[in-house]
Parts: sequence; structure tokens; C-alpha cells
Amino acid sequence: MTMARKRVAILISGRGSNMTALIEAAADPDFPAEIALVLSNRADAGGLARAAEAGIATAVIDHKGFSSRAEFDAAMDERLRAENIDLVCLAGFMRLLSDSFVEAWRDRMINIHPSLLPLFPGLDTHERAIAAGMRLHGCTVHFVRAQMDSGPIIGQAAVPVALDDTPDTLAKRVLAAEHQIYPLALALVAGGLATVANERLVIQGELPTELGGMLVSPTFSA
Ligand code: GAR
Repeated sequence: MTMARKRVAILISGRGSNMTALIEAAADPDFPAEIALVLSNRADAGGLARAAEAGIATAVIDHKGFSSRAEFDAAMDERLRAENIDLVCLAGFMRLLSDSFVEAWRDRMINIHPSLLPLFPGLDTHERAIAAGMRLHGCTVHFVRAQMDSGPIIGQAAVPVALDDTPDTLAKRVLAAEHQIYPLALALVAGGLATVANERLVIQGELPTELGGMLVSPTFSA
């Protein structure tokens, strides 16, 4: 008996290139998750049109329409439950989430961040990596915890930093890595292979074989 595909909501605030990578991966019927909803806190998020083009339900819940973070988060939570969502993927969702929302989705909500966490949480990660003289930089997919850009790490990819990199050239290299690891990390979580114990990742069973050309941990198949 095949396991039912998990129903995933992707939360975005902007262009949604990671969202697109997840949608493309989930187009494969063997992928263990289906993208059931794309939810944005901004009506002008470019990703909304891309999701609609792919035939995916979209919703806008504008945070500016709420007097508190808690009320905004409650409205999102209600919508996610109404759509029977199993897992939430944050993909460039640029709002801090309340502790109660994070707790309600504990171990069922993952995020992608453009640095090798715990280095460089927050904004301007590429500029800060260059300023720090890093020779490697990268991206992280992690389970979400109340503290911003923290939580058990599911996967990371590292890319080299060139001496003449600008934040833009480095961002582009990291973004290509983001598009590779986010679908792989979601597949692990949705497939029940990636779980958490003592706030660290546990992999159940055998991991697929390695992804060539990039330093990726854990080793994933392409
Ligand atoms: C991505 O680089 C993502 O890692 C970053 O925002 C960008 C969104 O791009 N997220 C964060 O900084 C969260 N702390 P996208 O909309 O094209 O996926």
C-alpha cells in the first residue's frame, strides 16, 4: 500500500523561486507530497501568479489587515486547517511567526534560509558572509522553532565564495543550491524519513545515494 501524499502549504512573501522548485518536484506522482496551497501575506507577491499558472490554489492573508501578530497567525492557522494541510514550507516568507503558531506546527513546518546556519541568521546573509571573509557559504533547510532561523537542521548545501563575489553573484549561486536541497528535504520529511529527537535530525532507514557536484548533507539523490 502506498502512503498518501502529504498535503503541503507553501508560505511566500515574494518571487517564489523556491516555491516553484517545490511545485516542480511535486509534479512527479512519486514525490511524497502534493502542493495543496500557496499562501502569501502580500497580494503583490510574484509567486502567486506562478502558482496559479501551475494550477495550484492560492490565498492572500494580508498581515496589514490585523491589529496583532497573534491575530494574523490565527487567521493563517485557520486557513491551513480548513485546507487539511499536513506540512508547511516557508519559502521566502518574511514575517516573524508567533510562538503559538510555531508550536502548533512543531515538526510539521520547515524553512529554507540562505546561509549555513547557525551562521548568519536574519537578513543580508550574502553581504555578511562576504564581509566575514567566508570561503564557503550556502543554505539550510530546517524545522522551524520559535527563535528566528533556528531549529533542527534537515539538510545543507555549501557553495564556494569567489574573491570577487558581490552579494548578488553569491546570492545567485546559493539560490541554485536552495532549489536543489529544498525539494530533497521536503521529500525526506513528507516521506517520514526525517524526524526529530532531542532537537536533532534523525533519519529513518536508508538515505538515497549522493548528489554530484555539490557538498550536500545528508547525501541526497538528484
Ligand atoms: C530565498 O533566498 C530564501 O532562502 C530567503 O528568501 C529568499 C526567497 O526567494 N529566505 C530567508 O531569508 C528567510 N530567513 P524566493 O522567493 O525566490 O524563494
